[in-house]
Amino acid sequence: MFKSGNGHLPIVCGIKTIRRAIQQQSSALLFYQNRQLELYASKEAKRLTLRQLVYFGRHMNEERLITSANYVRTELPIRIAHRLRDLQALPYVVVTQEGVAKVYELYWSAFEKLRNYPKVTSLAENDRFCQFVGTLLNEHAPVIPNLSLGLSLSSPHLPPDKLDSFMRRMLISRISRRVLAEHHIALSDTFSGRGRETNGEPHVGIIFTGLNVKRSVERCSRLLKESPLWIMSSSGPSDSSQLPDVEVNGHSSTTFAYIREHLEYIIFELLKNSMLATYSKHQNESSTPSIQVTIVAGEHDVGIRISDQGSGLPFHDRLSKASDLFSFSHVRNATRLEDSRLGALRTASENGLRATVDEQVGNWHKAHAQDPIAAETTSSELLHPRIGIGLPMSNIYATYFGGTLDLVSLDGWGTDVYLRLPKLGTNLEGIEV
Ligand code: COI
Repeated sequence: MFKSGNGHLPIVCGIKTIRRAIQQQSSALLFYQNRQLELYASKEAKRLTLRQLVYFGRHMNEERLITSANYVRTELPIRIAHRLRDLQALPYVVVTQEGVAKVYELYWSAFEKLRNYPKVTSLAENDRFCQFVGTLLNEHAPVIPNLSLGLSLSSPHLPPDKLDSFMRRMLISRISRRVLAEHHIALSDTFSGRGRETNGEPHVGIIFTGLNVKRSVERCSRLLKESPLWIMSSSGPSDSSQLPDVEVNGHSSTTFAYIREHLEYIIFELLKNSMLATYSKHQNESSTPSIQVTIVAGEHDVGIRISDQGSGLPFHDRLSKASDLFSFSHVRNATRLEDSRLGALRTASENGLRATVDEQVGNWHKAHAQDPIAAETTSSELLHPRIGIGLPMSNIYATYFGGTLDLVSLDGWGTDVYLRLPKLGTNLEGIEV
């Protein structure tokens, strides 16, 4: 026993004894914490469907909101524990790479805080719980660039399949935790009358129940045309009026229940690539061919095809398949170890990433209004155009509820991207949560 009755170290002992006692105390603590981790990691995640999230949130009352809070409180540490075990299983050389330790620390800290968070029993306690979870969401903003940096640097030490499946589990699981947390916060906001501005579009928590696909495509296209990304990009136009137009055809009145942020993240990234490629190919011609977006409402899913005439996928000749662009391994995607990309990742690791298109573009405009010069110099961080995670993240968002994302390059002509998202909301979250 090295603790006195009141929990402090005994006063009458030599310096060596104290040191030994502290060492014992910290290894005992570590042992205890690891036991807790084992306990949580051995539990299965309670995976949900989009439909369950909507159904539960639709008829909200105090009791249901508190049930939702306690589900989030008990579910998040289980999901984090799974990923902490994954991180512990990585070879030592990977754990020592820049960025990886930071993610591990953030996850340990969140795991401990959530595990010890007391049961929520009232609306006032739920308000405090939402604030606590909101702080965690902000603290975790640098996770993706840190992880991408660490794993890109680890690429020479991990076989590509192992690296990519680890990254996929980390990213899917992160999306899942953020969905649970953000959905609960949004439900609580609506219940207490602090609802968000949604331009009159019906929603339950973060799920838009009649999400209009054409409207989202047009919003992303408009935001891209207004965005300062082009000023920053050395290969982009000096004036966004030179960018190609986006034409929407097909079943253009399609609506379905989906998380708007996820759909728009994907569309924004895909249109951004298409616009830049099309501009680069046709900049010296009298006109720029438009980008065609075709929307199709199928029986089980919503299909979206984005066709451009931007000459095909970059580096396609060096990839064995188009989906290698989703890979974090330099074996499959050589750009992962390029100095410019690693440098941009380091900057983003410091500052965190803005996840939504509104955050990406809106924050820049806000910053620009306050301090135009500072905004110019920080916009590369806000818009992260060069860190190479837009496509892999779009693929993760697409597949989280069982959708697909495929790229077909007609080298020398253009690229067709096919996005399919399930429209019935009955698929469970990815197995990796
Ligand atoms: C993450 O963003 O990585 C999280 O795990 C967020 C969660 C702790 C609320």
